[in-house]
Order: sequence, then structure tokens, then C-alpha cells
Amino acid sequence: MVVRSSGTSEPRPIGVFDSGVGGLTVARAILELLPHEPLIYVGDTARFPYGPKPLEEIRRYALEIAESLVVRDVKMLVVACNSVEVAAIDHVAEAHGVPVVGVIDPGTRAAVHATRNGRIGLIGTEATVKSGAYDRALTATGTDATLFSRACPAFVEYVERGDTSSEELRTVAEGYLSPLREQGIDTLILGCTHYPLLSGLIQLVMGDDVVLISSAAETAKDVYRALVRSGIERGDPHPRHEFLATGDPARFQAVAEVFLGPEIAEVRAAHLEPVGGGPWS
Ligand code: DGL
Repeated sequence: MVVRSSGTSEPRPIGVFDSGVGGLTVARAILELLPHEPLIYVGDTARFPYGPKPLEEIRRYALEIAESLVVRDVKMLVVACNSVEVAAIDHVAEAHGVPVVGVIDPGTRAAVHATRNGRIGLIGTEATVKSGAYDRALTATGTDATLFSRACPAFVEYVERGDTSSEELRTVAEGYLSPLREQGIDTLILGCTHYPLLSGLIQLVMGDDVVLISSAAETAKDVYRALVRSGIERGDPHPRHEFLATGDPARFQAVAEVFLGPEIAEVRAAHLEPVGGGPWS
């Protein structure tokens, strides 16, 4: 493999986006692995949740956000949302000509490495599970492991409310996850970027023998690799990050602070223009 490095500092930020706070799990992993890179994060909380929506609608939103980030001169786009990836990652890449990194291949790779019995579970939104994207990604690795999938649409609503442990949520989790437990999976892909925020609960329900796979850390490695290959990594010790929400910024900030911590300095309102429209504030 040829690794290319510019050796010079590249000041442009990395754009990261999701329907809400879930993509912060990926942003967190990028901040840990690449502490010198500035991020612009967009949570589309005004139009959340994406999972139950038709792919066409998710695609339209994704293209709007991507365009708005490109207008802000990002050097790379990280699609920190499985539902967007299944609906639009190729369209986003074609439309914008900057490197685009997704979460499905990294998560699948990690699951293939982790499984011991070849029975892998997948939980995600309806859009992600219905799309069959993980089945295709798994087949592409050449493994003969089997995938058992289950949509868990209600999980994201709890996370967006900041609820990761209520009794009501535990009952919901038991209902979603017990069929997968009965199928004897030994590895479970958290195929929605909101779900790592429920890892404690999911592990409790699945039992200690099941390895939970969050794509965040693997995705951060892909981001690093893509930056180095394009020679656009940054060497600034004090990057400034920006967080934007299309819905109520104060509400986003309150939940995001709990999940991400002090890096969330201030959340601003994002006003997205339809694709083809002008820049945003
Ligand atoms: N975090 C998103 C994902 O990874 C989806 C949440 C939603 O339904 O909006 O799929």
C-alpha cells in the first residue's frame, strides 16, 4: 500500500453528519484518534428520525446537508448514519467530489474479525435493515458467516431524549433482542450510530458472551487512512470544532453534552437550503 502524506498542515475541517446525536459516537472516535482535526458536525434534528422514512426522502436530506458542508469548505465527509449510507452515500460522493467515508464496511469488518461461531446479529433502523446493505457488505468480505437482522426503530427516540436506561426502555430492548439471543449469535453489530449509546443496556440483555460491534472506532481508522492517502491530514494542536443542529440547538446541546462531553462548546442553529440553494448560516 502506498501511503502519501503532504507533510503540510491542511486547515479545512472534516464534515460529519447524522439525523441527530447518534453520529456523535463517530465524532467522538475521530476526535480521539485524530485530535488535530477540526470537525463540523450537523445533526438534522428537525427532520429526525430518518430510519422510518422512504430512501428518497433521506437522500434529499443527505444531499442538502452534504452540500451545505461542502459550501463550508470541508475536505472530507463522514456519513455518520447508517440510514443515510444505505440511501445516499454514492449520490453524496458523486455530487461533491470530496472523499466520503461511511460506517457500514468498517462495522462489518470488525464483526467478521470478532465472531467465533459465524453467527452475527445486526440491529439497525428499518431503512438499514430493509436495504440488505449489511448482507451485501458481509458477502463482500468473503466470509461464510450468517447474518441475523432485526430493526429496532424505537431505540433512536429514547437516545434522542437522553434516556439510555429506563425500565420502559429495558422492556423494549428485551422485546427486540431476545429473538437474536435465541438465534445463538456471538457478535452483534450496532448498525445505527445511536445504538452505541445504549451499549450498557444491550450488553445486559444479550449477555456477556456476545461481542458488541460499534462501527465508530473502525470508521475513525478509515478516516485517518483516507486523510493520509489524500495528503490532507492536519497538524494543528488546537482545532476548533463546530456543532450545528437543524432543530432546537439548546435541546441538542443538552443531550450531546451528556454523550460527548466538553468538546461541545456551543451548538448553533443550522439553516439548510434545498439542494442548489445558497449557503447557510
Ligand atoms: N443514526 C442513524 C443511523 O445510523 C439513524 C437514526 C434515525 O432513525 O434517524 O441509522
